[in-house]
Amino acid sequence: MHPRIKIAIDGFSSCGKSTLAKQLAKKLGYAYIDSGAMYRAVTLHFLRNAIDLNAADEVAQALQEIEISIVPGMAQDCVLLNGEDVTHRIREMLVAEKVSEVAAIKSVRIFAVAQQKALSQSGGVVMDGRDIGTVVFPDAELKIFMTADPAIRVVRRFHELESKKQPVTIEEVQRNLELRDYIDSNRDESPLRKAEDARVLDNTNLDPTEQLELALQWSRDAIHEKAALPA
Ligand code: CDP
Repeated sequence: MHPRIKIAIDGFSSCGKSTLAKQLAKKLGYAYIDSGAMYRAVTLHFLRNAIDLNAADEVAQALQEIEISIVPGMAQDCVLLNGEDVTHRIREMLVAEKVSEVAAIKSVRIFAVAQQKALSQSGGVVMDGRDIGTVVFPDAELKIFMTADPAIRVVRRFHELESKKQPVTIEEVQRNLELRDYIDSNRDESPLRKAEDARVLDNTNLDPTEQLELALQWSRDAIHEKAALPA
């Protein structure tokens, strides 16, 4: 029996983290957890309730009212916010425009990280986000930091939103990605950073199959390494 490891995938917006994380989890028979979906669900709740992000009490109170669950599905996992399926809602630009501001709030991060840790206690998990290798799983056996040429990331996300019939221009997508990358990298609370022991995967010139092959090889190496350690 091979040991089951934790795999942390971090990186900038629209680098293809979730595509890789999902495929990797499927191949390895692991759980996939999209940490960004949690921040997006919190943001949707805050927007709907017009929460003032600068009012700590209001934010703390709102967090107490939120229950997020991720239900594995055939085609995709469903994200439930207080029982409502918000899987598609949380991908809309309205949420994308506010999520980095919300994710920079300390109490929001404490709330989300606690859930992320609880969801992955049994190992055998692939989680993607911004602080997975640095804060959520500093002990992950494999850490991947993904990056890609910014212009390519914009085009990829634009096509993704277009295929979902979302009314958005390429300039709006570009502005959103630049702004989120800036806020995510410069916030005080667990900013986006490459963990020192993370392997860099630049997928500018890789297709999904090639990046999966590379990550699978790294995963097998990490699993063998763990198997070789004394129990
Ligand atoms: O658009 P993309 O898929 O790249 O982003 P996401 O993974 O859905 O995350 C949306 C936003 O949530 C990010 O821009 C961050 O502001 C925040 N986030 C975070 O702060 N920490 C994480 N572990 C995951 C996401």
